[in-house]
Amino acid sequence: MTTAARLRPFGTTIFTEMSALALRTGAINLGQGFPDTDGPGEIVDAVTAAMRSGEANQYAPLAGVPALRAAIAAHQRRCYGLEVDPDDGVQVTFGATEGIAATMLGLLEPGDEVVVLEPFYDSYAATIAMAGATRRLVTLRPPDFALDLDELARAAAGPRVRMLLLNSPHNPTGRVLERAELAGIARACVEHDLVAVTDEVYEHLVFDGEHVPLATLPGMAERTLTISSAGKSFSFTGWKIGWCSGPPRLVAAVSAAKQFLSFAGGTPFQHAVAVALDDAERHVVPLCATLQAGRDRLCDGLRAAGFGVCVPQGGYFLNADLAPLGVSDADDWCRELPARAGVVAIPAQAFYADPDAGRTLVRFAFCKRPEVIDEALARLSAR
Ligand SMILES: Cc1ncc(COP(=O)(O)O)c(C=O)c1O
Repeated sequence: MTTAARLRPFGTTIFTEMSALALRTGAINLGQGFPDTDGPGEIVDAVTAAMRSGEANQYAPLAGVPALRAAIAAHQRRCYGLEVDPDDGVQVTFGATEGIAATMLGLLEPGDEVVVLEPFYDSYAATIAMAGATRRLVTLRPPDFALDLDELARAAAGPRVRMLLLNSPHNPTGRVLERAELAGIARACVEHDLVAVTDEVYEHLVFDGEHVPLATLPGMAERTLTISSAGKSFSFTGWKIGWCSGPPRLVAAVSAAKQFLSFAGGTPFQHAVAVALDDAERHVVPLCATLQAGRDRLCDGLRAAGFGVCVPQGGYFLNADLAPLGVSDADDWCRELPARAGVVAIPAQAFYADPDAGRTLVRFAFCKRPEVIDEALARLSAR
């Protein structure tokens, strides 16, 4: 089968359709996850300074500029006690999105299987398919989206399973996996000799609980490739500076694929993200407080409007249940919502392989200014 044929089921995603609809209709876009307030001015100044220096406007090295690789290694040590080699253990990518694609292309063989928690971020299914591999799904179910460790152990046990792909804090549910869940995942990875790939782009956006990287668990550092990105931590989603870090043999496989995807890019942005990461804790504390206030505002307003609300512990999104409103299909409801109420949201079905799972759930982004959330709530209440 050609790659195009393998990718056909993923087509133009509902996210692209809904964002286009938001632009066309002028609806408030609570569909796509991007903040409507820029990140810190001093980080923007660092981009300008890098551009003006006359030394940061050409190709970066394939692995990324040394200052950023050093900042990533220092961040992993400072925040989590993880030792990463800035020369052989880091690959800078064009956002986490390219990191995910290069990981799948670099580490998977056709016919391999990957354990994935569903609902999942949409690029996982497409990039696993690009690599000619297939998914073994473990489903997180509303309202609490708890992980069933027995189901996970069964999924990890197949003879062709090579990788486990994990996302915590999780998009779209907002779950932050607990230590006991991570310990069960680590057990399965060690028992079945799996490579673990962790998507931690929301690592600093946790409101309840704490983010524990899987790589910090016993026996996991040597088998875990950690993916993250500056977009969410510093509110610059358009800069697309991401990275993979971990054991050199895993990072080398990612680099091998990445060199033929984009080679290297965004040199001045890489320098600015190095500056941002060196001071990450100072930048993320106020951002996290603002996002938590946005979460609470949207949760309270949706509850008052009659929606069921699954309260997220981290990230940009919450899921609301339409069943209490008497709605049986979130996909139809979301497609009509821009015209009816001037709001865009995403049906959770888009994140599940099984179209019946999450049929009445809708994902809303709360990474918006309070007045935007209030206006969306007013429109949703009057729908
Ligand atoms: C779970 C998850 N992974 C990866 C990404 C992509 O990150 P980036 O913008 O750095 O490519 C997103 C963006 O929404 C996401 O939610």
